[in-house]
Amino acid sequence: MKKGNIYLIGFMGTGKSSAARLLSGLTGRPYLEMDDEIVKAAGCPINDIFAAEGEEGFRARETRMLRQIAAGGPQIVSCGGGVVLREENVDIMKESGLIVLLTAAPETILERVRTSTHRPILNGHMETGYIRDLMQKRESYYEKAADRVVITDQRTSGEVAAAIRELLPDSFMEDF
Ligand code: S3P
Repeated sequence: MKKGNIYLIGFMGTGKSSAARLLSGLTGRPYLEMDDEIVKAAGCPINDIFAAEGEEGFRARETRMLRQIAAGGPQIVSCGGGVVLREENVDIMKESGLIVLLTAAPETILERVRTSTHRPILNGHMETGYIRDLMQKRESYYEKAADRVVITDQRTSGEVAAAIRELLPDSFMEDF
């Protein structure tokens, strides 16, 4: 497997999708959204997948899609917030690219996701305390997976994309 992909990981609302799109403009590499690919393959929205198959069903779809994505590239991949929860997924990403973690404070996250209705994990839990607890539970997974970290609080998506671009080793861009 080639190591040319750039995986953006991080909690919901850390701005992975916007950063992926803008980073694509900066690097000339295509980008894709893992969640969108899962939705396309399933033929129904994420809320419906969770309702019909539970979180486990969604996670299994996520791993299958990640395998498919990892075989392609080089490309920028905006990952779902829970992708790091399976060790297998982290292994796939490590083998096929560089993993960049985006972070933000729970207050920033809430501000960004509060009107969202397409994230089953947060439906009915739009409060800082819930977000902080879940972030704490996931923190070690994110940190273990990350090759690079970019803080997104008080930064525009353009600034975040530029910061990620700065962190990419020259060899990484030249070799692929
Ligand atoms: C999830 C994050 C979502 C999506 C699903 C589960 C999570 O992606 O994959 O709702 O468990 O954190 P975003 O991080 O793009 O919102």
